[in-house]
Amino acid sequence: MDKFVIQGGRPLNGTVAASGSKNASLPLMAAALLARGTFTIHHTPDLQDVHTLANLLRIIGCRVQYDPVGKDMLINTENVHHFEAPYELVKKMRASIYVLGPLLARYGEARVSLPGGCAWGPRPVDLHIEGMKQLGADIDLDGGYIVARKDRLIGNRIKFPISSVGATGNVLMAAVLARGESVLENAAIEPEIVALTQFLAAMGAKIDGIGTRKLTVQGVDHLYPTHFDNLPDRIEIGTFMIAAAMTRGDVTITNVIHEQIEAISEHLIRAGCTIEKGDRRIRVKGPETISPVNVITDVFPGFPTDMQAQWIAFMTQASGPSSIVDQIYFDRWKHVPELERLNAKLRTDGNMCKIDAPATLKGAQVMSTDLRASASLILAGLAAKGTTEVLRVYHLDRGYEKLELKLASLGAEITREKYEEFVKLDTEE
Ligand code: EPZ
Repeated sequence: MDKFVIQGGRPLNGTVAASGSKNASLPLMAAALLARGTFTIHHTPDLQDVHTLANLLRIIGCRVQYDPVGKDMLINTENVHHFEAPYELVKKMRASIYVLGPLLARYGEARVSLPGGCAWGPRPVDLHIEGMKQLGADIDLDGGYIVARKDRLIGNRIKFPISSVGATGNVLMAAVLARGESVLENAAIEPEIVALTQFLAAMGAKIDGIGTRKLTVQGVDHLYPTHFDNLPDRIEIGTFMIAAAMTRGDVTITNVIHEQIEAISEHLIRAGCTIEKGDRRIRVKGPETISPVNVITDVFPGFPTDMQAQWIAFMTQASGPSSIVDQIYFDRWKHVPELERLNAKLRTDGNMCKIDAPATLKGAQVMSTDLRASASLILAGLAAKGTTEVLRVYHLDRGYEKLELKLASLGAEITREKYEEFVKLDTEE
């Protein structure tokens, strides 16, 4: 198993390029199931989650080739024959459920495992299931699997009770091949979903309202393979912005789309950072004194929940106390007790975390529990005095491409080392 060993206290300086977006690449890959032929998705990041979905597509019958240098993902769907997403893969990565809509829409059947919980608690898929039902699918829950059938889905008006990235993507991918018109209301407008909508349109789907919360879809009989440029990863970009801010560094990040990180930039400016926006690049200079800034996470274009853990690490270094409220997940706090091992002074109360600051972070051994929790522990380690060891970085490898090499290129003293866990350090899987 791998851990990161970090010697804290070094300011980060230099330039780093953002990789392709994890959360855009996954629905883009699943959407390939909607048409027969070969797809190319450029700028696909070399991440564990991408490889997990690639393996699922292979089980379904696709030929999948990935070039880790050129970052092109090639998917050929001419031999799709197995319409199932097994438990062991869906449990590993919840986003595997993205194959439900495409398989049902194109092949009339799908058997997809329910995802089970994730590190920080239940994450239901009821909106995915309800959306398929509203498109006319027969749905059974059998042995922990969603069993969906419908020869041809039927367009319908679907109003999501809450904004859901995954449910919007899944239902949209089902609706594009349904008979007749579908109207999706209260659709998610996260950049990853807008990219998916553009990809579907490039495949021949008829969608009006792209980029808005109301999508009107005229179902078509066939879609066609195409190629597409994946987005940059806005959460990786935000993570590097905070790394610069909390080490009082000066970092330029390239491959940036400013509209996708407005909320992050604004909050960093309020914390005292200097931000210079260039052509697809952003420069962040950390302030001598970090001002406390309260945050409430929200759906796009609000402050992303996927930056919540990283922001807590940052605010431990502020000149005064602050708080963060997560309106998306009410229990996404697995990183809090680990940050406390680094001497952070935190207190959670429901979906709020209060951060007492400034706190002098001191190196220690800490445990990754989920993807963004790992990122927050690494950020804290960069600012902590002494040595921090972040264990189980396989969580991090799900969503950050070569993070330790990128950070080292900016002057961080961080290495990846092998280690064994002779005793189960906690009950977590
Ligand atoms: C996506 O997850 C992202 N994952 C998550 O990023 C991100 O945290 C989340 O969107 C919110 O932005 C991918 O894109 C692969 P949701 P998703 O459906 O689609 C509730 C990361 O770190 N809900 O928008 O699963 C849900 O519990 C990951 O990269 C239902 O109640 O999120 C949550 O409270 C972590 N029923 C809220 O909606 C449903 O059927 C928003 O979830 C679906 C969701």
